[in-house]
Amino acid sequence: MGRRLLTLGALLVGLTACLSRAPDRSARAAEKDGGMKPPEKLDVFYTSATSCSTAGCHGRETPMVDKELPPLCRCIEANIWQGKGTEYPGDKHRDAFNVLKGPRAREMGELLGWKQKPEEAPECLSCHGFSARGGNLDRPDTIVEEGVTCVVCHGPYKGWVDAHHGSFRPDDRKAWRDLSRVYKDEKWGMRDLWDPATRARLCASCHVGSLGDREEKTRRVVTHEMYAAGHPPLPSFEPTNFSEVMQHWEYRADKPKEVRTILDYKGEKERAQLVAVGGAVVFESSVRLLAGQAKECAEKSRTLDVANFDCAACHHELRSPSWRQERGFAGSQPGRPPAPAWPAALLRPTVACSEDFNAKRTEEALKTYEALAAELKKSLAARPYGKPVEVADSAAKLADWAAGLAKAVGKPMQEQEARLFLRALCELPPGEVPDYDSARQIAWAVKMVALDLEPKQAVEQRFTALNADLRLTLPQGHKPTIVDQLDDALQARNRYDPKVFRERLAGIAAALK
Ligand code: HEC
Ligand code: HEC
Ligand code: HEC
Ligand code: HEC
Repeated sequence: MGRRLLTLGALLVGLTACLSRAPDRSARAAEKDGGMKPPEKLDVFYTSATSCSTAGCHGRETPMVDKELPPLCRCIEANIWQGKGTEYPGDKHRDAFNVLKGPRAREMGELLGWKQKPEEAPECLSCHGFSARGGNLDRPDTIVEEGVTCVVCHGPYKGWVDAHHGSFRPDDRKAWRDLSRVYKDEKWGMRDLWDPATRARLCASCHVGSLGDREEKTRRVVTHEMYAAGHPPLPSFEPTNFSEVMQHWEYRADKPKEVRTILDYKGEKERAQLVAVGGAVVFESSVRLLAGQAKECAEKSRTLDVANFDCAACHHELRSPSWRQERGFAGSQPGRPPAPAWPAALLRPTVACSEDFNAKRTEEALKTYEALAAELKKSLAARPYGKPVEVADSAAKLADWAAGLAKAVGKPMQEQEARLFLRALCELPPGEVPDYDSARQIAWAVKMVALDLEPKQAVEQRFTALNADLRLTLPQGHKPTIVDQLDDALQARNRYDPKVFRERLAGIAAALK
């Protein structure tokens, strides 16, 4: 591979010079076809983290230095994911397979009465690792143990893995670097995780659920049966905050100056953009999953699995007075379980962002959303657990609308826009009563955008109280496990009071001005 790349590399260096004048990514990508030849077909292949972390590659003790051709990344990423000493507590994705062999999963397996053990069941492996078939594995004896390993996220194909290091030859590295991210994704299968929508869709495919992706048509769904057997409730998911919890990369803003120049970084607010796009994409993923499941139910004349509904609609203490009664039924039917509210928690500020924070246009755009959302609510409340045909139809329309919104907010944000976005995120419409999961979404989003605009310490300080109320800090590192903290997490949920949340958010908003 190395030698082939060398000759192609030499060719490309020449090409690079003339192509650097053409800024349009897709045009550039097309022209590159003649240079470094991408694989004819993308065949799924899982390279193991052990290979990625070989000493010279992503498992270095200290960041790589190369004055001639400054590396775009630090090459210490595998240690952060794997965990090393006290400095790197490890990434939970590294444990995702191991937990399938732990006591909680074992008990789940017994209660479910499945023939396969959880660590062998594709229903679990689809999210807790991967369910590879055939001989498409590197180091087959150990790779499965790695759980959600590097290429599950970065793209399970061999071509890009071999090509992107170019055996460390400068010309080869240069040639690869010169290809656009879009081209590397489409032609080589290296997933473009810089792109906020691509990233958020990937994360949501496991953290919200999905019925299939381009790799293996992998079904990723936690059913109510799995929850009742002991799966911890999936928390609400804000991709920017969750990214930060597992971060093994540097934001462009934090990279050395020469690398920022190479990457053409111009001060964009990276968190703010991911919050906006993530708000739309996570909603899209959740209604897309609902639409897909409703379609299956319609075909098989079944009712929707109750895991599609708001867990708290059924699982909460009966109390009076209570903020739930105060909240009312918002277009649903009293006593019918609605869809979870949290995936929509960031839509209003995200729509505002898509309309350049123009109040009048935002209200207009929200009307389209509200009409579609009302249709979905109606189809879900038409009878207990909804009418699948109508749910499938209305949820799919909402998903398409949200995909459009994700595109509309996809442009980079500068400081001025990030400030306007922050203000929009802090504004709760009067009378709105966010539940615990929605409050967490809002708090995480506000915190992430604030981090783009203020020093970290100041932001952390402002969030001390909300952090305690909402447990904004997630379990991190190999220990404690999520199950270890489940009791505390459930108690925080029971203690939650939306009035207190509203006050604290107002306090933060005032301080951030
Ligand atoms: C849709 C993706 C998905 C599927 C399918 C899934 N899980 Fe999970 N699982 C997750 C996520 C995401 C978490 C982390 C939740 C959190 O952040 O609180 C998790 C957490 C867990 C935990 C707790 C881990 C810890 O750190 O304590 C266990 C145990 C577990 N899952 C077992 C299973 C088993 C067994 C199955 C199959 C019956 C399964 N999961 C299916 C996504 C999934
Ligand atoms: C759960 C998904 C996930 C897993 C697993 C994962 N990554 Fe990443 N990785 C990401 C995301 C998201 C980014 C950020 C992309 C960006 O904006 O640069 C990233 C960025 C990187 C970068 C760029 C670093 C930088 O400073 O720009 C490298 C290199 C990398 N990952 C290597 C690895 C290696 C090696 C492993 C396995 C040991 C791994 N990743 C596992 C999601 C993942
Ligand atoms: C293939 C499925 C999959 C993908 C893709 C995925 N995750 Fe995960 N993630 C999991 C599972 C499973 C766990 C729980 C592992 C455990 O606790 O052992 C998890 C755990 C986490 C945790 C720890 C959660 C907690 O409550 O402490 C964070 C943070 C996280 N993921 C962020 C991300 C981000 C950000 C992305 C996208 C860049 C992403 N994940 C993509 C499956 C996935
Ligand atoms: C439509 C009502 C309904 C919805 C919505 C619902 N459940 Fe359940 N759930 C039930 C019923 C009924 C049982 C069985 C109760 C029993 O055995 O006492 C149950 C049992 C459970 C159990 C085991 C019993 C317990 O209390 O520990 C768990 C855990 C659970 N559900 C979690 C969830 C989660 C997580 C969600 C949301 C993703 C959810 N449920 C959504 C009705 C619902």
